[in-house]
Amino acid sequence: IALPTPPPQLYPSFFSPAPKDILPDLKFPKGFLFGLDTAAFQVEGAVKDEGKGPTMWDWATRQPNAVIDNTTGDITDLQYFLYKEDTARVTPLGVNAHSFSISWSRIFPFGTADSPVNQAGLDHYSDLIDYSIEQGVEPVVTLFHWDTPLPLQSFYGGFTSGEIVNDFVHYAKTVFKAYNGRVKTWYTFNEPRVYCGQIASYPFDVTLAPGVNVSTAPYQCSYNLIRAHARAVKAFREMGIQGEIAFKNDDFIGPPWRINSTEDAEASERHTAFQIGVFSDPIYKTGDWPKILTDTLPPSYLPRLNESEKRDILGSADFFAIDSYRVQLISAPRDAGGIRGCVADESHPLWPTCNEIMSFDTGGWSVGVSADPAAPWLQATPGLLRGALREMQKRWPTKKMYISEFGFVEPFEGTRQPQELFQIKEDVARTNYFMTYLGEILLAIHEDKLPIAGAFAWSMVDNIEWGSGLSTRFGIQYVDDTTLERSYKRSAFALAEFFKAHLQ
Ligand code: NOJ
Repeated sequence: IALPTPPPQLYPSFFSPAPKDILPDLKFPKGFLFGLDTAAFQVEGAVKDEGKGPTMWDWATRQPNAVIDNTTGDITDLQYFLYKEDTARVTPLGVNAHSFSISWSRIFPFGTADSPVNQAGLDHYSDLIDYSIEQGVEPVVTLFHWDTPLPLQSFYGGFTSGEIVNDFVHYAKTVFKAYNGRVKTWYTFNEPRVYCGQIASYPFDVTLAPGVNVSTAPYQCSYNLIRAHARAVKAFREMGIQGEIAFKNDDFIGPPWRINSTEDAEASERHTAFQIGVFSDPIYKTGDWPKILTDTLPPSYLPRLNESEKRDILGSADFFAIDSYRVQLISAPRDAGGIRGCVADESHPLWPTCNEIMSFDTGGWSVGVSADPAAPWLQATPGLLRGALREMQKRWPTKKMYISEFGFVEPFEGTRQPQELFQIKEDVARTNYFMTYLGEILLAIHEDKLPIAGAFAWSMVDNIEWGSGLSTRFGIQYVDDTTLERSYKRSAFALAEFFKAHLQ
């Protein structure tokens, strides 16, 4: 195949050419998944229906100002009841996969292994899975997307306690057994680093569980979570469950800010170790924490793994999945002040500070509104994507990679005045983001020979964005908060057109 080398003008900062004019000869490999993402807490609503128990987010969203606009997940998109409509709305776009999460609290309302299972919850996801398959949409299931059952958070501090391992594994086994043969692609955890780093004890100033130490929480959580992951995967294999299992990595490998700076090279390595390496090194490469972590963190922060844990952890993923929204260049701390750093989180003295990890350059493409460090999702760097993916494959080689999430927020989607609806639906920057990213993904497959087998856009619908509530919209469909009516944004049509042109 003759590969066109894209001249830089293919990636203008606004209004890319019509999708079919980009890289017209290149196809995605056969069986490629054009997926959309959702997560239970963010889209389901119906938080008290059909036997569901409360999650830590049901609690957290009731704490004043813990969420910017004080939104709760009580209603959000009501996808719990509207899943058929939602699935039916995306099949005409050519979508052939839906990555969603199961709410642990719907299956075990009390969370613990010795508490009763809620059949209505199991039936619900069974229906969703069957309906998706019927519609030609492959169900991709995440077991844990941050919504810890509240009782587990209150009893023992959720993932900051080792007690969670057994409870999680019991939940995982129940779900594996229920959907075996129908679900082919599984994830144990969504973005564990983000969860442990920021959310395990969220909101920090109103720590729910007595005894959760916010300084050590990220590391204790990482320790318990990686063991829960490994034990669940072990059970998956012992039970002979069909299909493949992994977890969703987040973040990026940031190249050094200055090319010939040892300091920046070290900062970049530190960044990689703490952000991705923390889970990927043990799972794909060594069975153990990256050395930089154990050199930095005493065991009272990051407990050490014993030999049998290491054996279970090593190789406990069948493929590599990365949620890749952006790539940033990494500079040593002294450079950070004047650039686009973000505020260091003082409560985590040993987690690398934002100054160190968040220094940002427009090494790729940016819509020109990215200077706000409080809104990093406004940054997009397609030009750095391929390099980061190549580096991931080099460090943690696998036979298959998924871009398990990528997505974008329009700057004007923060406010929801009626006159902006036109702009919201005409989401040119998001459209441009998706088109340029997909172009890069095609090139990564053809030029870099990366085994990318699917790309999942976050998100199927506007939804509650954790602490940012409804003030931040990632959907390729707009959702009216009063009527819950969905409408396609321009990006939905562009994605459909792109995949139509490039799927085979
Ligand atoms: C990653 C998370 O998995 C998802 O829950 C979140 O909404 C998106 N990124 C956007 O921030």
